[in-house]
Amino acid sequence: MSEAAISEQVVLELANVESAYGPIRAIRGVSLKVLRGQIATVLGSNGAGKTTILKTISGIIDPRKGQVHFRGRDITAQDPALIVQQGLSHVPEGREVFPLLSVRDNLLMGAYTRSDRDGVARDIESVFDYFPILRERAAQDAGLLSGGQQQMLAISRALMAQPELILLDEPSLGLSPKLTKEIFEIVVRINRERGTTILLVEQNANMALNASDYGYVLENGRIVMEDSCDRLREKDDIREFYLGMKDAGVRGERRWKKKKNWR
Ligand SMILES: Nc1ncnc2c1ncn2[C@@H]1O[C@H](COP(=O)(O)OP(=O)(O)OP(=O)(O)O)[C@@H](O)[C@H]1O
Ligand SMILES: [Mg+2]
Repeated sequence: MSEAAISEQVVLELANVESAYGPIRAIRGVSLKVLRGQIATVLGSNGAGKTTILKTISGIIDPRKGQVHFRGRDITAQDPALIVQQGLSHVPEGREVFPLLSVRDNLLMGAYTRSDRDGVARDIESVFDYFPILRERAAQDAGLLSGGQQQMLAISRALMAQPELILLDEPSLGLSPKLTKEIFEIVVRINRERGTTILLVEQNANMALNASDYGYVLENGRIVMEDSCDRLREKDDIREFYLGMKDAGVRGERRWKKKKNWR
């Protein structure tokens, strides 16, 4: 692909983004690209800065340095509501559904910028097709759903805005392996069937690498590695530190070293 063709395909681009909480520099010069129709992932352990990246993209945090471009437009530090209107939805860490509203009303909240009532009704049916349990619980308070069901609702609520890009913050958090697998399968279906571009951040490297096309590894606020997920899965460092595989063979002693050397 030529450079022009690639830039045409770039839905989201971060250039040298730095965000901080007071004196704590949570992300330090992060650059990444997400291509149209892709699932991209940022892998990183506790406190690496994954949530901070997503909050910076969706305008919840203003970066100290760098730019965020969405569909070719500079959205750096814009109002979060404006960013949603441009087609970028954020499914936050810990789901954050409205516990005292019904499942259906939570979905309607996701569509609050839309005025096409018939379209909204159709989209509610279409998210119920992805997550049939939500149809059964449509009238129930969202706070009574299980953690996994709340995750399904949070993803569905984001879909109700008909986004071009969804930011997904650790959908596996607190869920059983079985439920995590189910949710990831549906995320992949949403991507394939609707063409929705997805940026997923995860500690669960195994699930994320299997679901995604391209991956970045984040450590202490910095991207230390990036590649296609097929290639990342084969790297010894990833297998050892993120996939928990100790079959790194002759290099097995590496895990005793304090400092990792990424390559
Ligand atoms: N509101 C805050 N005030 C101060 N420091 C914060 C705040 N939120 C995050 N941090 C710090 O910023 C760094 C990055 O945090 P962040 O939440 O982005 O990490 P994360 O990769 O999402 O971690 P996790 O996997 O645990 O969710 C951490 O050192 C964290 O302690
Ligand atoms: Mg987080």
